[in-house]
Amino acid sequence: MLNNKGFDLWADGYDKTVGVSDEENSYPFAGYKEVLGRIFKTIMEKPKAVVLDIGFGTGTLTTKLYENGCTVYGQDFSARMIELASVKMPDAHLYQADFSEGLAEPLQQQNYDFIVATYSLHHLTDDQKVAFLKSLRKRLNPSGMILIGDVAFETRAQLEKCQQEVGNEWDDEEIYFVAEELRNAFPDLLFTPVSYCAGILTIT
Ligand SMILES: C[S@@+](CC[C@H](N)C(=O)[O-])C[C@H]1O[C@@H](n2cnc3c(N)ncnc32)[C@H](O)[C@@H]1O
Repeated sequence: MLNNKGFDLWADGYDKTVGVSDEENSYPFAGYKEVLGRIFKTIMEKPKAVVLDIGFGTGTLTTKLYENGCTVYGQDFSARMIELASVKMPDAHLYQADFSEGLAEPLQQQNYDFIVATYSLHHLTDDQKVAFLKSLRKRLNPSGMILIGDVAFETRAQLEKCQQEVGNEWDDEEIYFVAEELRNAFPDLLFTPVSYCAGILTIT
């Protein structure tokens, strides 16, 4: 599992790696642009939305939101990712903090129309995901939404099938979402598959 220094080192080449993986329709980023595009469209339905991005990285999604009138807040633990994102979004409220320890204190003082997390929360165990998502849900405005785009599956059997197909490329250190299991904690959770290995989870 990469720590913040690992992400610092990956930051400058990140967009390229992701783009190639998506274009080749290969795990883990097959469907990446489509996942981010669909989340973008959902958020654009609410003018001037206030958005929190957990693990915003180089700001691929949040920069588009920022340029289209959203107020952007974010948390990431990589100093280099924050540097790259800050150049694109000088007025965004970006904080450096480890989300395995929860939401950064200043971000707890605010409510959001949308909380997004793309390709970031698979660094948490399933129990940590549930606890963190419950704490995030408290920070939603009425009719707000949590939108998670990631390597994700409806069932454990589908995850295992993908793992078999991917073979040695499969990253055993990442803990991917299984929608039917997460519904024990979030019964209304919606899952929209986007590619053979990715999808969007929506919690209201
Ligand atoms: C694979 S990148 C995804 C970036 C972006 N959301 C995207 O969709 O392209 C994962 C991001 O989450 C951040 N991250 C990973 N684990 C984290 C943690 N425990 N606390 C805070 N940020 C973390 C990394 O620094 C990195 O920027």
